[in-house]
Amino acid sequence: MSGASKGSAEAKPGRGIAKSVQSAGGVKSTQTAEVLILGGGIIGLSSAWEAAKRGFRVTVLEAEAFGGQASGAAAGMLAPFSENPESPDAFFRLCADSHSRYPDWVRELEELTGHSAELQRSGSLNVAFHEADFLSLRARLEWQSRHGAGFELLGAAELRRREPKLSDRALGALYCPGESHVFAPKLVGAAEEACRRAGVRLVAHAGRVTGMERVAGTGVVVRTAGAGSWLADRVVVCAGAWSGFVREWLPVDVPVHPIRGQICAYDGKGDPVRHMIFSSQAYWVGKKDGSLVCGASEDVAGFERSVTEQGIGRLKRWSDRALPFLGGIPPSRGWAGLRPATLDGWPLIGPVPEVSELVLACGHYRNGILLAPSTAALVGDLLEGKAGEKGYENAFGIERFCVAGTRRGLG
Ligand code: GLY
Repeated sequence: MSGASKGSAEAKPGRGIAKSVQSAGGVKSTQTAEVLILGGGIIGLSSAWEAAKRGFRVTVLEAEAFGGQASGAAAGMLAPFSENPESPDAFFRLCADSHSRYPDWVRELEELTGHSAELQRSGSLNVAFHEADFLSLRARLEWQSRHGAGFELLGAAELRRREPKLSDRALGALYCPGESHVFAPKLVGAAEEACRRAGVRLVAHAGRVTGMERVAGTGVVVRTAGAGSWLADRVVVCAGAWSGFVREWLPVDVPVHPIRGQICAYDGKGDPVRHMIFSSQAYWVGKKDGSLVCGASEDVAGFERSVTEQGIGRLKRWSDRALPFLGGIPPSRGWAGLRPATLDGWPLIGPVPEVSELVLACGHYRNGILLAPSTAALVGDLLEGKAGEKGYENAFGIERFCVAGTRRGLG
């Protein structure tokens, strides 16, 4: 099968010449891609869309269904401030950059595809249920006010005026007006459709990778259980919690591991809360369909994606405490996703020194949905060989896990 682009994105001159490959199994009907993206979650799809817009001939291989893992399970919060309580480090700046791109990025997606991602600028409340919680909220107010407008530390009475359904155990909150959220499964659907319209070849149910090898001067061959073999000039690893599989085939230890997030929703509660609500134990997000999403556990359960009574029970107890109108009502549904975690909680976005054809875009842990636009832009720059302009890009390279010439991985 030819690797020629089927859609509107034109390949740049000199790029994407079809090849056949002599591999261990002989000359096979290996399909070709200029850029092969492994993983069809929001990071893979947004990177594919960006690469196609920049003129690359792109294929995405997804082992199962697009958005079927962490991206589809996410609560969809775009919360660079609430997710970064400590300091304005490089990770905060990446999150803030991505958040600032979101309105235009989603508008472009929606106009192109006709799919709504249900972006809502609800603002957020980080609620104090104990006096001690105010310490960190005050510290956050101090530094975060320098990076965004309209932050306020609310006392109990003002908090209840703005969010009447909160329990009167709430002592106050840090209000952050700029934070927002999307409906993650719809966002993924829009990104998938945008890729299709941009000429990206989308291959779902490709199964697991059964082999990967470099072919000198030609590229990388990727073999799959369900979608044959692929030869690509560049391979972008966007396989979420599964990204560590690369170490089975190539001399690079990608230190990503799964952390399960159990999450639940109360259906039909009809516009139940006005803001995203964060507490030290759980968060709540009201969606346009009237459901109220409550998340999320952070448990180590390997690649197990089921929910447990204990995990959902804990979310329910905290829902009863924070939002008394939920008292005694069981959540309508519960589900789980596997967050792709790294040893320091920051993503891996960058080249791989040992394998120049590889680019990493994985390990986004709690913020894959938020970080999609900025990750896609960085991947596009890496593919084009452009240096990033923000000054923090190198902070996300795999080199940070190198200790005295060895990779500090998970073993
Ligand atoms: N982004 C929230 C979570 O991972 O639970």
